[in-house]
Amino acid sequence: MKVCMIGTGYVGLVSGTCFAEIGHDVICVDNDEKKIEILNKGGLPIYEPGLEELIAKNVKAGRLRFTTSIREGVENSLFLFIAVGTPPKEDGEPDLSQIEQVAEEIGDAMNEYKIIIEKSTVPVQTGKWVRTVIERFSRKIKDFDVASNPEFLREGSAISDFLNPDRVVLGVESERAKDKLLELYKPMDAPKIVTDISSAELIKHASNALLSTKISFINAISVICEKSGADVLQVAEGVGLDKRIGREFLNAGVGFGGFCFPKDLSAFISIAAKLGYDFRLLREVENINNEQMLYAVKKLEGMLWNLRDKKIGVLGLAFKPNTDDMRFAPSITIIRELQRQGARIKAFDPVSMDRAKQIMPDIEYCEDAYATAKGVDAIALLTEWDVFKELDLEKIKGLMRQPVFFDGRNVFEPGKMAAMGFIYKGIGR
Ligand code: UDX
Repeated sequence: MKVCMIGTGYVGLVSGTCFAEIGHDVICVDNDEKKIEILNKGGLPIYEPGLEELIAKNVKAGRLRFTTSIREGVENSLFLFIAVGTPPKEDGEPDLSQIEQVAEEIGDAMNEYKIIIEKSTVPVQTGKWVRTVIERFSRKIKDFDVASNPEFLREGSAISDFLNPDRVVLGVESERAKDKLLELYKPMDAPKIVTDISSAELIKHASNALLSTKISFINAISVICEKSGADVLQVAEGVGLDKRIGREFLNAGVGFGGFCFPKDLSAFISIAAKLGYDFRLLREVENINNEQMLYAVKKLEGMLWNLRDKKIGVLGLAFKPNTDDMRFAPSITIIRELQRQGARIKAFDPVSMDRAKQIMPDIEYCEDAYATAKGVDAIALLTEWDVFKELDLEKIKGLMRQPVFFDGRNVFEPGKMAAMGFIYKGIGR
């Protein structure tokens, strides 16, 4: 079937490529000429394991191509997916101007019946506005459907998340759209939830909000563990064995980042407020997350007496492993606070340093963990990249000015680190 994917970011590019992978004909559209140029040369504007090969395979098979022309994509496809960015505005509300712009261009280009599908995470009731805008800009065609098909892709595992979903959520307003979308997803043997558009939009927001809540919950528990001499990893193990709870997303750390949780949380809070509900629970989830990052700085200060003129070596900058994405990364908040208190920063990340340099040009970037450790008063591990799990810790210790090690993602064992002579602190242990 013919698919047009509008927006070739983390969501659009993976989704478009995977639709081709399951046998559909896909045109990916982006108004960023540089991005399309890179893609047409076989390059990748983002880092996502396995994506480059999958794109090459499907381009070669003639099922996938890239263009800057929405008109070309619209005229040649039945399914028009909107997968453009919905970044947060100052007040936390999502900026839907790109969605509106695309809806106008779709309306203007429509030459026959189409199904326009929200793939981007949008506030509940956005579907109504998409319909209104398309009606206003489509002079010829009035027969179309709007639908919602939210994504649940995690960066770093986005391809497998798309091809092996826990569920496919389809928010539709007509039998025709329902039948066509079920046909589109026929190759996927996951459970399909067919519902109305508002419910589909809310499933996405509620899922992200609940996952964020789990993380802030275990981070709050980790503080109580530290004050009571308990071990948060044991607690998470014991709690997670309850089938109703589950062990996933109960890893205490320095907080959650990324372009989804922080943005969707503030968007959901503002959407609820607009609907007349004060989502106090989610505001507290946000507060705990911010506190967890600042608590990391407090711990480092407690291990160094004070932070003024101290050199801190940061291992890991990306918001999580296996991605180059620095958006809302806890490392940014933590490094800025360390600098505010007079510390000087060296840092290494296997993949995200180019993006980090644009955000934090004023820190010293190193070519590996050992160069980062050289001469520092403390190490702060903020992202649990596999490469850090295999470090030669004796060598690291020998390079440091003081053997102070803050492990923000509980990668190492406290007992072993102490036995090696490190002054070690993890999270909740
Ligand atoms: C998330 C959702 O998982 C995904 O379903 C949605 O579509 C997009 O947002 P993503 O942000 O890519 O995916 O990464 P995820 O693996 O969910 O991690 C988000 C953040 O939470 C990271 O900063 C990670 O370090 C943190 N995290 C995750 C924890 O601190 N503890 C955990 O147990 C899990």
